[in-house]
Amino acid sequence: MSVHVNEKSGVDSLTTVGSVESAFQTAAFALYAYEELGRGEPKLLVFKPEDNGYEEISASALKKAKKGAEGLKKKALKQKELEAKKQQQEADKTAKQLESLDIKIEEDKSLPQAHKAKINKAYESVGQRVKVNGWIHRIRNNKKLVFIVLRDGYGYLQAVLTGNLALAKQTQELTLESSVSLYGTVNKLPEGKSAPGGVELSVDYYEVVGWAPGGEDSFTNKVNENADPSLLLDQRHLALRGETLSSVMKVRALWMKYLRKFFENEGLTEVTPPCMVQTQVEGGSTLFKLNYYGEEAFLTQSSQLYLETCLASLGDVYCVQESFRAEKSHTRRHLSEYTHIESELAFIDFDDLLSHLEKLFVETVGYIMEDPVGGALVKQLNPDFKAPTYPFKRLDYKDALEWLNEHGVPNEDGQKFKFGDDIAEAAERKMVDTMGVPIFLTRFPAEIKSFYMPRCKDDPRVTESVDVLMPNVGEITGGSMRTWNETDLLEGYQREKIDHAPYYWYLDQRKYGSVPHGGYGLGTERILAWLCNRYTVRDCSLYPRFTGRCKP
Ligand code: 4AD
Repeated sequence: MSVHVNEKSGVDSLTTVGSVESAFQTAAFALYAYEELGRGEPKLLVFKPEDNGYEEISASALKKAKKGAEGLKKKALKQKELEAKKQQQEADKTAKQLESLDIKIEEDKSLPQAHKAKINKAYESVGQRVKVNGWIHRIRNNKKLVFIVLRDGYGYLQAVLTGNLALAKQTQELTLESSVSLYGTVNKLPEGKSAPGGVELSVDYYEVVGWAPGGEDSFTNKVNENADPSLLLDQRHLALRGETLSSVMKVRALWMKYLRKFFENEGLTEVTPPCMVQTQVEGGSTLFKLNYYGEEAFLTQSSQLYLETCLASLGDVYCVQESFRAEKSHTRRHLSEYTHIESELAFIDFDDLLSHLEKLFVETVGYIMEDPVGGALVKQLNPDFKAPTYPFKRLDYKDALEWLNEHGVPNEDGQKFKFGDDIAEAAERKMVDTMGVPIFLTRFPAEIKSFYMPRCKDDPRVTESVDVLMPNVGEITGGSMRTWNETDLLEGYQREKIDHAPYYWYLDQRKYGSVPHGGYGLGTERILAWLCNRYTVRDCSLYPRFTGRCKP
């Protein structure tokens, strides 16, 4: 490679290229620069003013230039060593400063007494000195300024540490998920800046309550959003600290709260039926069997039958109880244990049942959306959520089959639907997603429903039954009227090949002052998957149980 050297117009710099337009001033620097940049030894062409042109460097001049380049190299090395030494000295100085600042984390007793506040209350304490306890959710360290986002289960609070407090060694070593008590003044954020609650805590003092590990065991190594779902489920106890899961759990709590409020307004009484039972409700194939002191027993599939026994003593009733299903299928909406909210209403007909269900969804979702925390969380998790409105679309099973056939949706055997076919999960979801509104799917054939469902008077092939379908999830509720005539109920047991002897107590309801009644069961996790736009019900249970998963 030819490199030009021009004593008059050249420039000795590491950015010089060596062309005629960008020549070096000296041959020594040209050699040094080429070696420094790892380009090898160049062929030097030197400008001769007398010829007004470039000539190859003479052997003696090249020797001299090589010596000069050697000198330049030594000088540069020395300079680098000096700079490194200076940097080290500065780092040592900062470290020393940090060590000495370490002792300065102490409360200034002349400040006003801090009052203890949960984060949601701290938002309302602008201008006051507060003590807020929580966990370090996020931390950003600019050495002189340390920003912490504190989490306490009531909200998130942005906090800023400045001056010596920021520089202190302990502050520099703070880790995610360490628990701390922050003391400071709540300030309103200036226009244009945003943080939860519109405030920032100016910290003047803090205490570490419990350290969380850094390095290998650090929280982010344990819970990584992109990790395999089953690894995240192993770490569920830590994953629950994440923003999405904890938000879903908050919505879940609010849903329960407002459902209870609805039941109270409607005059229902809460009862707690047993979980260990000796009767089935929804078919033998999903029963979890257990050895009960040598007798066969099951974990309950539904508390419905027990609720029915309460009508004559307590009036309309409901329960919030775990139900258990030994589901073989691995679907996004099946759990082995789920929170089943069931209710039973006396002296009603099928239309009353549907109106009651309609009201339940419109009112409970209305309460959540009006709640400042609930409404904000649902909008955040599910920005396109449409709260249900009256009246719900009503669709008979036989009309649903027609719709499915018209839209080319096949049954489970890949054929056209015919009367008596089950509408499986995928077909059901296709239908409700296409329609995009809540649907009451009604009047299912007796053969695909449970023993207790009464036949419709105008068409005895079908029952007074309803599934509530919601877009994105499908069935979230199953309900029906209950056969209240003893003979018809016995026919139901016979049809389903169930021995009715263990159900003597249930049959007695038909003997001792029977009345028309009906009820339903709400799948809590499915309702949340719909409200919070979660792909699977597993995201809506605290510690989900499904095939192969019973820990932690
Ligand atoms: O339709 P199901 O099986 O109805 C009953 O159990 C009735 N005895 C309830 C009643 O009338 N009291 O279940 C009711 C609801 C379903 O609509 C669904 O939302 C939910 O319970 N569900 C499940 N949720 C999660 N995982 C499972 N394996 C579920 N099975 C039913």
